[in-house]
Amino acid sequence: MSVPDLASLHALGPSQQPDYPDRAAVDVAVARLRTLPPLVFAGECDELTEKLADVAHGKAFLLQGGDCAETFAGATADNVRNKLRVLLQMAVVLTYAASVPVVKVGRLAGQYAKPRSSNSETREGVTLPAYRGDAVNGFDFTEAARTPDPQRLIEAYHSSASTLNLVRAFVTGGYADLRQVHTWNTDFVSTSPAGRRYEQIANEIDRAMRFMSAIGADPDEFHRVDFHTCHEALVLEYEHALTRIDSRTGNPYDVSGHFVWIGERTHELDGAHVELLSHVHNPIGVKVGPASTADDLIALAGKLNPDNRAGRLTFISRMGAGRIADSLPPLVDKVTAAGIEVAWVCDPMHGNTFESSTGYKTRRFEDVISEVQGFFDVHRSLGTWPGGIHVELTGDDVTECVGGGEPVTEIDLNSRYESVCDPRLNRVQSLELAFLVAEMLRTA
Ligand code: PEP
Ligand code: CO
Repeated sequence: MSVPDLASLHALGPSQQPDYPDRAAVDVAVARLRTLPPLVFAGECDELTEKLADVAHGKAFLLQGGDCAETFAGATADNVRNKLRVLLQMAVVLTYAASVPVVKVGRLAGQYAKPRSSNSETREGVTLPAYRGDAVNGFDFTEAARTPDPQRLIEAYHSSASTLNLVRAFVTGGYADLRQVHTWNTDFVSTSPAGRRYEQIANEIDRAMRFMSAIGADPDEFHRVDFHTCHEALVLEYEHALTRIDSRTGNPYDVSGHFVWIGERTHELDGAHVELLSHVHNPIGVKVGPASTADDLIALAGKLNPDNRAGRLTFISRMGAGRIADSLPPLVDKVTAAGIEVAWVCDPMHGNTFESSTGYKTRRFEDVISEVQGFFDVHRSLGTWPGGIHVELTGDDVTECVGGGEPVTEIDLNSRYESVCDPRLNRVQSLELAFLVAEMLRTA
């Protein structure tokens, strides 16, 4: 079945799309995007599908993380390296402490478009369009910045390309070599309790590697990691223009990223996002909130994965710490009973956002942990596999989420709040999360 054209997707009345003032300029940008090379290759997407099949079958754990919203200004070498570094550290902790293979997927190189609960934002009597991510408009609160500009789609492509180029260099060019396990633990993190705990694991890995080397073993896996990218497939112009036919198989792939997901606000069964992603052969995800029923999920699986291939579909639950114990079990239970192949992953971020007394959008580290614990508890009681976590984090020392072992307080939030969208775990909080999840995994 061929991919529907953009006009027929728009005819489905998609929500969360930019309101472009100049449609002709959109056509020009889309035509340009269609000429640009793929960012990822279909074969790489297939490799990730294989790995996610292991996740679905309880043989691997998915670590998916990165910014809520990447920015063009943030696509710097330091930023990308710091994000990669914290993900590598978390993966080491999870792999070593739980002896489970970890599938690493960065929320990066494409995470530039955001769904919003309101179309507009009002400040001191002035109302402007809401910020929808750098792929759509600017964050500054001016009419010029907030007007959606289709040229930004091209810039999103180039920013993704340079991020991905650097990521590829890091993961194959020596930075991700396991012998670097100590050098990842630098800066502020090494002096924190989580950093010191990490150092002990790094020492043990060192010793194991010296042993391997003494007996003459030096497997390729020591020197590079598999790392893939993901983002929310939100702006139809962008995702459609980057949907291409794979020359090996003749199948369409969305080559804007390896894994793409459909957000909580756009997963209607008959909607444009489900329609588009039903045609591409990437591994895909669907966010699942407390309003979803098991019948909804069974219908989505039927449309998005009619061949019931393991690894193709991941359900990313985002219930909130207070609701997961009630909301998740009936879904997992009935979807499992229906024989559906799916990986279950926990997003402990998006159900746990609140506004601090100081006016910041924030989350409590303790709520994040509590939702992940609830997720493990549900799967333990049903005999199913808690397949992974999907988190918003950064490699920097920001103050956006409150709590944690070196607690960030509501007063601290204004010292380094840099997110343009949702609050992210900082590097120490991310590492602490990895240790706590490793503990849960060990007993899973
Ligand atoms: C997100 O992942 O940043 C997001 C908006 O999530 P959700 O669609 O689950 O609200
Ligand atoms: Co978010």
